[in-house]
Amino acid sequence: MAEFVEEPFPPPGVDLDHPSVARVYDYLLGGTANWIIDRQFADKALATLPILGSIARANRLFLHRAVRHLVGLGVTQFVDIGSGVPTMGHAHQVADEITPGETRVAYIDYEPVAVAHSEDLLKEHGDPSRHVAIHADMRDPDRLWEKIRDTGVIDLDKPVGLLLIAVLHVQQPPAEDSGTTDDLGPSLVAHYRDLLRSGSYLALSHLTDDGVPPEFDDKLARLVTMYEQSSNPVLCRSHSEIAELFGDFTMVEPGLTWTPLWHPENTGAGALTVEFATPNESACLAGVARKDE
Ligand SMILES: C[S@@+](CC[C@H](N)C(=O)[O-])C[C@H]1O[C@@H](n2cnc3c(N)ncnc32)[C@H](O)[C@@H]1O
Repeated sequence: MAEFVEEPFPPPGVDLDHPSVARVYDYLLGGTANWIIDRQFADKALATLPILGSIARANRLFLHRAVRHLVGLGVTQFVDIGSGVPTMGHAHQVADEITPGETRVAYIDYEPVAVAHSEDLLKEHGDPSRHVAIHADMRDPDRLWEKIRDTGVIDLDKPVGLLLIAVLHVQQPPAEDSGTTDDLGPSLVAHYRDLLRSGSYLALSHLTDDGVPPEFDDKLARLVTMYEQSSNPVLCRSHSEIAELFGDFTMVEPGLTWTPLWHPENTGAGALTVEFATPNESACLAGVARKDE
């Protein structure tokens, strides 16, 4: 007999006709904020690239290490765009482990499920004066900056840690009249870099097919084709294209590297272990850079 899985009640505005990148990613991380359409899609993706769950976990662990590292460098405010469902620990939880009560975090996502789950988590494990979840589309940076400013949680006239983790490879649904997909690409990221005050940091990770093991080439290509059926197609960028997203910011050592290689010493006590035969199996490049004076 098929196992009965109780489906979570969807928040308003959720598209349950297509798998969503946020909910598929949640499933890959072992979360429960997903529906059958997301799980079926994720299972097909896992059949194509069985290591995909490890790729997702390694990415989430990079996010945690980047936050830990930045708190160590004195960052007290984070803007986490495309923050996703808070599976495996959210940025404010990581920051509060190191400097309890001192950091501020704004979470932004356009998937209602991600925002609803962030809000639920913040109700229980958050502080409304320091944490906020915002439902917004990152394609309008000025409007988003206004929304963040209006919350009073983040002082955007001071440096922040801007997290764009595993979001820039997500292509956007076509605008009704254009029929084309939008990239979250260089000009959008440049706009965000301009909005940041000096002393801010940009942390990002991005899916790539550049330098991955040769046997991944075909599988990644099939995965990209498969994601075209979801609400959000995905796009691989090359090492140099991802490096360019940092503009003239100064890269923090060790520069742009595979997710598992970015400051492994910042791994939290009790963190999951993700094993790869070689780091390039992570298929995601990650880096952090500083906006100088
Ligand atoms: C793969 S998940 C990454 C989640 C998290 N940053 C992480 O790395 O663990 C990508 C997230 O970006 C969000 N996203 C994609 N396009 C977006 C947009 N235009 N505005 C806001 N969020 C977006 C998706 O809804 C999803 O939650």
